[in-house]
Amino acid sequence: MNATINLEKKHFPVLLNELVSIISPLYSGTFIDCTFGQGEYSKKILENKLNKVIAIDRDKDTYLYARKLEKKYRKRFNFHNIKFSEINNIKFKKEDLKAIIFDLGYSINQIKDLRKGLSFHSKGNLNMKMGINDFSAHEVISSMNEENLIKIFKYFGEEKHSKQIARNIVSIRKKKIINTEDLTKIIDSVKRFKNSKINNSTKVFQALRIFVNKEISELINGLINAFYLLPRGGIIVVITFHSLEDKIVKFFFKNYSEIKNTSRYLPNNIKNIKYFKLQEKKPITPNFDELKTNPPSRSAKLRFAVKTSNGCNFNELKEKFRYLIDIENLKFDRWKNFFLLFQLYF
Ligand SMILES: C[S@@+](CC[C@H](N)C(=O)[O-])C[C@H]1O[C@@H](n2cnc3c(N)ncnc32)[C@H](O)[C@@H]1O
Repeated sequence: MNATINLEKKHFPVLLNELVSIISPLYSGTFIDCTFGQGEYSKKILENKLNKVIAIDRDKDTYLYARKLEKKYRKRFNFHNIKFSEINNIKFKKEDLKAIIFDLGYSINQIKDLRKGLSFHSKGNLNMKMGINDFSAHEVISSMNEENLIKIFKYFGEEKHSKQIARNIVSIRKKKIINTEDLTKIIDSVKRFKNSKINNSTKVFQALRIFVNKEISELINGLINAFYLLPRGGIIVVITFHSLEDKIVKFFFKNYSEIKNTSRYLPNNIKNIKYFKLQEKKPITPNFDELKTNPPSRSAKLRFAVKTSNGCNFNELKEKFRYLIDIENLKFDRWKNFFLLFQLYF
């Protein structure tokens, strides 16, 4: 799911030239980089002396890179270790704001960091916390009930074998603590006759990462708060890496850039309100050269829109994806499996 990564080599920022061509007409102002990572986008924007960057990342390890930029650019750069859904809590001069950028997913450093356990190549405990989390994947796998595990795998991973995988997890966790390797073995055992191009574990791991990091609510609230912050004429740019993210972004831009057929009894100034102007209906994707240097970028899609109006109500967006938000809010009893194993071992 990560287009910015290339596991053997270094980190490649995805669609960087395309991003610059979209935002550079607005240079001379403040840009918010909501997903700082290793800071490649921020660095590029700061090359222009008239620009300021406010960077955000939920992973505190990214401060290692941010510190260098803070030293180099002092008054033109600052970093906040927060989730981008809280973007509205940052204090700054809003009038200068030109664009807000989201490059979703994970960086190569996060994937390679075995403590984070984001990849099915990791060893040991299940974790998957990106930063500022309430629980880990280990807690979900050991304590979430079977019915809810099925929902998570089905809706966040589009995993066809959700039922069988969830059933096997629930049966095996009575006997032992399931770690990353155990989970991949469980998935392999269910999918042993499948002939898929992607790794057997990709979908279940994607589903767990989305659930642990509440990525759907983060994205929806991040987009809405970005809209509120931006002055008219400002741009929101989003780069997604999987179909669920892209579905949300596409709806957000498309639905709110169309003239609505509202009631004829409404006053004229309420009818026909569009919140965005869409420059391109289709997403921008990596060109041949980028695909050659960074093959995992093939799943990247860039969408952007210009804010044209202040009036807004995003209930339709929330309602449309309510079924996903509800799954992210599923609860579990953290101690359930602990007691079970305690009884087993003592
Ligand atoms: C694909 S990387 C970004 C790479 C970056 N554009 C660069 O040039 O290096 C995504 C980053 O976004 C961060 N991230 C993901 N979701 C986030 C959220 N909800 N709030 C804040 N940061 C988030 C991750 O921790 C990760 O560092």
